[in-house]
Amino acid sequence: MPLSSRHLLGLQGVPKEDIQLILDTATTFREVLERPVKKVPTLQGKTIVNLFYENSTRTRISFELAQKRLSADTVNFSISTSSVSKGETFKDTIRNIEAMKVDMVVVRHAAAGTPLYLTKLCDANIINAGDGIHEHPTQALLDIYSIHEKLGRLAGLKVCIVGDVAHSRVALSNIFGLKTMGAEVSVCGPSTMIPRQIEELGVKVYYNIDEAIQANDVLNVLRIQLERKAREYFPSLREYSNYFGITEERLEKNGKDILILHPGPINRGVEISSGVADGNRQIILQQVTNGVAVRMAVLYLLGTMN
Ligand code: CP
Repeated sequence: MPLSSRHLLGLQGVPKEDIQLILDTATTFREVLERPVKKVPTLQGKTIVNLFYENSTRTRISFELAQKRLSADTVNFSISTSSVSKGETFKDTIRNIEAMKVDMVVVRHAAAGTPLYLTKLCDANIINAGDGIHEHPTQALLDIYSIHEKLGRLAGLKVCIVGDVAHSRVALSNIFGLKTMGAEVSVCGPSTMIPRQIEELGVKVYYNIDEAIQANDVLNVLRIQLERKAREYFPSLREYSNYFGITEERLEKNGKDILILHPGPINRGVEISSGVADGNRQIILQQVTNGVAVRMAVLYLLGTMN
């Protein structure tokens, strides 16, 4: 069965069958990544452009590796080395890239809705690699894959997303994806960082991190986004860390064997202590490894639909 859409713009409204197909396909590619020769000819002859208007380490490298593992031809675009710096508009940039006959575009942009706009401008399959504070679907898919890999189930699992939920594309995609897969999703953070009416998405809200730890099986700890002026939403980083930071002491105090995820990059000593970030409850680097397999699955399923 193919996916129900030829683009991956977000996880809002994506059917359970599509998410399950991506997870199952990722399991096949996860095995490929353990082979001595980590390459299959699946997307030979396809051309993919990675259009990154915002900085990235994990997502960009992960997509590029996934494309190379599938034998696609890949081109990387970044604004600092492009003609955007000479004043070329987004629309003209896209039209010129399309004129070079590309099959797929992976896009990260600070403006929410850019991937949707791209679907109107060109015929290529569009994959959202993070659009502003809207969605980051492949991050959520790799989080969901990693939780399932570690705990063996998603349905009924209690997952809490901690931190700056209001400005997090990772949070929104996780909420949509996890709920579709049957998990019970909650959020926890300072009231200034929890969107009003978030309960309408069917999530519970905690303002006390100890209560959230006691009630949940998994914590997905969000980065405090210093580049998006996150500091304006609480008095100081030290205060945020005191009230919401995930530390070994806090986990020990609550006596919980809880699974810790973090999408990266980590602010050590702010939202998560080094002890937890490097400790035996977290799966942060497994998330990164699984990210390549999940992105291979998305690229393969979309790239073979045309
Ligand atoms: N998790 C994530 O999106 O990381 P990057 O910003 O490094 O891609």
